[in-house]
Parts: sequence; C-alpha cells; structure tokens
Amino acid sequence: MTTTTAVKPEFDVKDPSLAARGRIRIEWAEQWMPVLRLIRERFRKERPLEGVRISACLHVTTETANLAITLREGGADVVLCASNPLSTQDDVAAALVKDHNIRTYAIKGEDHETYYAHIAAALDHRPQITMDDGADLVTALLSHRPELIPHMIGSTEETTTGVIRLRSMAKQGVLKFPVISVNDADTKHLFDNRYGTGQSTLDGIIRATNQLMAGQRVVVAGYGWCGRGFATRAKGLGADVIVTEVNPTRALEAVMDGFRVMSMAEAAPIGDIFCTLTGDKNVVRAEHFERMKSGAIVCNSGHFNVEIDIPALERLAVRKRPTRDFVDEYTLADGRKIYLLGEGRLINLASAEGHPAVVMDMSFANQALSVEYLVKNGRTLEKTVYPVPAAIDQSVARLKLEALGVTIDTLTPEQEQYLASWSEGT
Ligand SMILES: NC(=O)c1ccc[n+]([C@@H]2O[C@H](COP(=O)([O-])OP(=O)(O)OC[C@H]3O[C@@H](n4cnc5c(N)ncnc54)[C@H](O)[C@@H]3O)[C@@H](O)[C@H]2O)c1
Repeated sequence: MTTTTAVKPEFDVKDPSLAARGRIRIEWAEQWMPVLRLIRERFRKERPLEGVRISACLHVTTETANLAITLREGGADVVLCASNPLSTQDDVAAALVKDHNIRTYAIKGEDHETYYAHIAAALDHRPQITMDDGADLVTALLSHRPELIPHMIGSTEETTTGVIRLRSMAKQGVLKFPVISVNDADTKHLFDNRYGTGQSTLDGIIRATNQLMAGQRVVVAGYGWCGRGFATRAKGLGADVIVTEVNPTRALEAVMDGFRVMSMAEAAPIGDIFCTLTGDKNVVRAEHFERMKSGAIVCNSGHFNVEIDIPALERLAVRKRPTRDFVDEYTLADGRKIYLLGEGRLINLASAEGHPAVVMDMSFANQALSVEYLVKNGRTLEKTVYPVPAAIDQSVARLKLEALGVTIDTLTPEQEQYLASWSEGT
C-alpha cells in the first residue's frame, strides 16, 4: 500500500502479520538496553511527556522500537516514520502497530515518493516535538508545512549529517524552534558512531558479500568517528586498511594510528573494498571507478546515498544486474565488474541490522532525556542547535557503567581543590 497524505491511514507497514517475530526481537534488544529501561520505569511513574505529540523519523529497528515504547510510557502520543528507505525492519514496524498501537509509516525498500508520503503522514500528527535522524522531517516541516511551526516545542537530531543541516538552517535564520544535537553528546558519538557504526558496517559488508576480510585491501573514506571505528575493526579482522581524508589533522591521526593514508585517486586502483563514511557527496566518482580493479566492492555507511556517485557508475556501465541480496553488479565497457552494495545506502542498516542494542542504549537514553528536557525547557530556548545538557550526558555514562558493573574512583576533597587551583607547582 502506498500512503498519500489525502488517504491518511492509521499506519503503513509491509505486513502486520510479521508482528510476532518483531515482538520477540524487540524484547531481545530491550535486554541489552538497561539505561533506557531505567528511564522507561521512571517515565511510567512520572509521565513527564503526558499528552505531548511526538513525530519521530528514525531507522525503524528493534532499538528504535524500545525508544518509541519508552516515550509512550512517558505519556507521549508517538508516531514513527522511516529515516531511510532501506533501513526499516518490517517485522518491527508490524509489532509497533499491532502490539504497541504506535502509528508507524515505514516499509523496507519503499520508493522515494512513499518515503516522503510517510514523512508527510508523520507531520499530519501535528507534532510538538520532532525527532530526526538526518533532518528530513524538520526539513519537510519547515519547507512545506509552516502552519505546524506554532505547535512546535523543539526537536532532537540523532546523526552528524542531520546536525550539519540543522546548523546551516540556524545560520541562515530558517530554523524556527530549538533543536538538541543528540549526536554531539559524548555518550552518543564516541560510542555509537565509533563502535556501533564500526562493527555494524563490517557486519553489513560481510552479510551482503560473504567476503573474508583477512588480506583484503579495504579503503575507508573519512577518518571521523564512524570511519575510525570501521578502520580499526577491519584491521582487527586482518584487512590491509587504507584511509582517505580531506582534513589534515584527521589524516595525521590515521597515519599515527598505523594506517596508510593516500588520495582516493591513488587508492582506487589498489582497493578491493571501498567504504565511504564522510557525510560528504561524490567521494567516489567516475574518475575512481575508471581506475578500479575488476571485482571491486563499493559501499557507503554515511547518512545519505550521495557519497558514491551512482549516476556516474550507471553512465559508465553497459550492464547492471543484481547478483545477491543488496549487491548490484555493474559491468563497464572494458568488461570490468564493480559491485555496489545496498544501492549506496548505509550498508549497516540495508543488509544488516544497524548498531547493536548495547550501544543504542546510550544514544536513545540521550534521546529520551533530551525530549524530557525539551518538554520542560523548550519554550524558553532560542531557535538554534543546542548540545545535550552535560548533566544528561554524564548521567547516561554513569548509568551505563553501573549497568556494566564497573566502578570508578571519585575525587577526594583534596584532589578537587588541587584540580581547581593554580598555586601549587613543582
Ligand atoms: N551508518 C550509520 O549507522 C551511521 C551512524 C552514525 C553516523 N552516520 C553518518 O556517517 C557519516 C560520518 O559521521 P561521523 O560522525 O564519522 O562524522 P565526522 O564529521 O566525525 O567524520 C567525517 C569525516 O569525513 C571526512 N571527509 C569529508 N569529506 C571527505 C572526502 N571527500 N574524502 C575523505 N574524507 C572526507 C571529514 O574530514 C571527517 O573527518 C555522517 O553522514 C553521519 O551522519 C552513519
């Protein structure tokens, strides 16, 4: 079923009968999300989000389901749509609708038109809070539904690319409500982007291709939080990792972390597997495809499917055929074959399941607490992008350590005084 705003159905998922499988998988993820569980218990008692309309545009995974349920337990009226056409887990979407009565608009593989129809359906909820992973919902609201702006208390943003877009909106004066950049919390990007994307990107590549990593030349474009996580893990599996960068400091870090660093032009003819994690566009393009070896595998784990110039690959190819799930074979005029994974969409969510619940626990604890913060304070904030309050960030770290059974030291009064003073020297 394709949703249009005129129809406004209560939900749009692939197959509601998948709910039983989704339910079990949501429960599985919940086990590994102890911080979110604690927040859920408190929300259930205190109902801090009572009656607040929330529209969330997130990857519809088992972990997101646990976040949506937590917000609902806090009293919110939650509607969910997908933040990427290929990242939805259809059984989870079904369970959210059937078991939890959370209106969900998300179908894995939905086309562009349906993707935006689902965003429009989420906006029909007249949200007071929006939650984004990539800023598509806020962009649609500000661009096409200005009548909704007066309802808005604020918004939260999950990922680097979304934060970049929102900062640009704030700079140009088009942002009309406060946004909390969940991505910038230490307990988010230091863990989710590095360990979560690092591991799940490898998982996605391996599930799609069944390649042995040992001995492969893996070219990693971008040595940010995601890129370094992926590079380190690929190295751990025995790959010969090459990094490409545009930022000299990050390139230097990659060198000192023991990676070879070179331009994409130099890496193109020697790489076996290429993975972009930059948040930038056309990082791998025609001039690179033209130099790649036959059999080169190309994929992306950055937010949007613009990091690989797919139209250029389409133009260079004389033939295209699917060879495995999430693998398209492009044959070039000279007979070389290039394999594109997951249509260039984030491969960890296209062919795998996204980040493990253990790490999403922290990201989504920040999300839930940031929503609570917005409900309390949003009306007094400026129309700009705010960090997650430090107290929230630190409380997530403390709760996670507690859940992991790890104890740390506390400063003695003498140490506190010493660290705040300047008078004591050699
Ligand atoms: N797959 C996922 O589940 C997932 C999770 C988190 C973030 N993301 C996305 O991954 C992308 C990267 O996020 P991050 O947190 O690592 O960002 P980051 O800003 O920490 O790192 C990006 C790096 O890419 C580099 N870069 C930019 N253009 C480049 C180019 N042309 N060639 C080589 N390097 C280039 C930058 O200099 C920077 O070091 C973003 O789009 C983000 O939204 C995806």
